[in-house]
Amino acid sequence: MVISYPSNVSLRPGYPDFMDLPWNLPLNRWEGQCQRLEQLPRGLSRHPVVFVNYDGVLYALKELPVDLAAREYDILMSMENNHLPAVTPVGHIQAETAQGKASILITRFLERSLPYRLLFMSPGLKNYREHLLDAMAGLLVQLHLAGVYWGDCSLSNTLFRRDAGTLQAYLVDAETSECCSGNISAMLRFQDLEIMEENVNGDLFDLLSTGELALDDPGVPIASSGTYIRIRYQRLWEEITREEIIHPDERYRIHEKVRRLNEMGFSVRDIELSGTESGDRLRLRAVVTDRNFHRDQLHSLTGMDVEEMQARKMMNEIQEVRATLSRESNRSTPTSVAAYHWLEHIYKPSAAQLEPLVNEYTTLAELYCQVLEHKWYLSEKARHDVGHQMATQDYITCFGAAAEG
Ligand SMILES: Nc1ncnc2c1ncn2[C@@H]1O[C@H](COP(=O)(O)OP(=O)(O)OP(=O)(O)O)[C@@H](O)[C@H]1O
Ligand SMILES: [Mg+2]
Repeated sequence: MVISYPSNVSLRPGYPDFMDLPWNLPLNRWEGQCQRLEQLPRGLSRHPVVFVNYDGVLYALKELPVDLAAREYDILMSMENNHLPAVTPVGHIQAETAQGKASILITRFLERSLPYRLLFMSPGLKNYREHLLDAMAGLLVQLHLAGVYWGDCSLSNTLFRRDAGTLQAYLVDAETSECCSGNISAMLRFQDLEIMEENVNGDLFDLLSTGELALDDPGVPIASSGTYIRIRYQRLWEEITREEIIHPDERYRIHEKVRRLNEMGFSVRDIELSGTESGDRLRLRAVVTDRNFHRDQLHSLTGMDVEEMQARKMMNEIQEVRATLSRESNRSTPTSVAAYHWLEHIYKPSAAQLEPLVNEYTTLAELYCQVLEHKWYLSEKARHDVGHQMATQDYITCFGAAAEG
């Protein structure tokens, strides 16, 4: 095969150079011409998108008009710098194909992600539908808090990963996004919600028209899904950005506010305090950075990189271990010691047994969180703590085949 090298290549270090791909052809003609192509489920798209495999690592390539790939790459980079859940940009390339000039955006394929169509098509994933709407609301809030306007929030432009029985939403298409310097205006937030509502309802009607979803399908309030996301968004936004007026004696409320936001996964960068006009009260406002509070904590203690809700469950366990060890040794146990104990004696033995159940849609961390749920259920029934080993074994017996399917 004749390889024509692209003219303008910008790639991040640590990734393949992609130079062996058939750049002289538009992406929609790579089928049969490129050994690296992989077929994978994906959302609707206006632009050609292909997936390529380099040593078992997958990348998504999207063909766009000239210069647009560089723009989308820059936006995705700034989202990454703000720790926002979005696909990872790898590079952009300008190519001259038989059909003219084009620019190609390369992103790392988001492993173990579920496109929304799959969530609606698989009966086994039905329980996730409400979580899907919550996850979209959470994603929009995170973007807006970081000053990002999306401009095309839709189910097709979002990917979902399992997160301790719920879902975590990831932005996949930043073509229309803008990063505002400073705060995003109320007008832009409103506009994003309007676009989201129209797109989400459109995406769901689309599933109806293709027969992938039935109108009487329980658990899918099709016509009101967009509205539901808007309401969830507004509640969350209000909770996070609300200014509180406190009495100088009530400074404990500052800690309370930080704890509440951390509990919801938000990391607090600053607490802003200012006097009220009357001078006898304080205005309290928290500035949050991202929604990785437990994730960052767990990572720094154990090196594990998991989703936020999974990390929250694991951090709760580590705190329980800490309390037990402190009680047993009759002295305060540092969290790092408890985390090591948890990793070696609780997580790893259970994870080793669960390993065979891992597949392309689930992770060890997710399976472990399901075992925790199962342990809670078994312990309730038995009226005593059944322990991790028994819960793991029972989980594998009950759900092993289903999890593999
Ligand atoms: N990094 C990635 N990881 C996993 N899937 C991806 C990735 N990039 C793209 N996809 C899949 O390809 C689909 C299309 O991508 P994208 O939305 O960026 O294309 P588009 O043509 O710009 O869409 P639109 O029609 O909204 O403009 C996505 O819905 C997603 O399923
Ligand atoms: Mg798209």
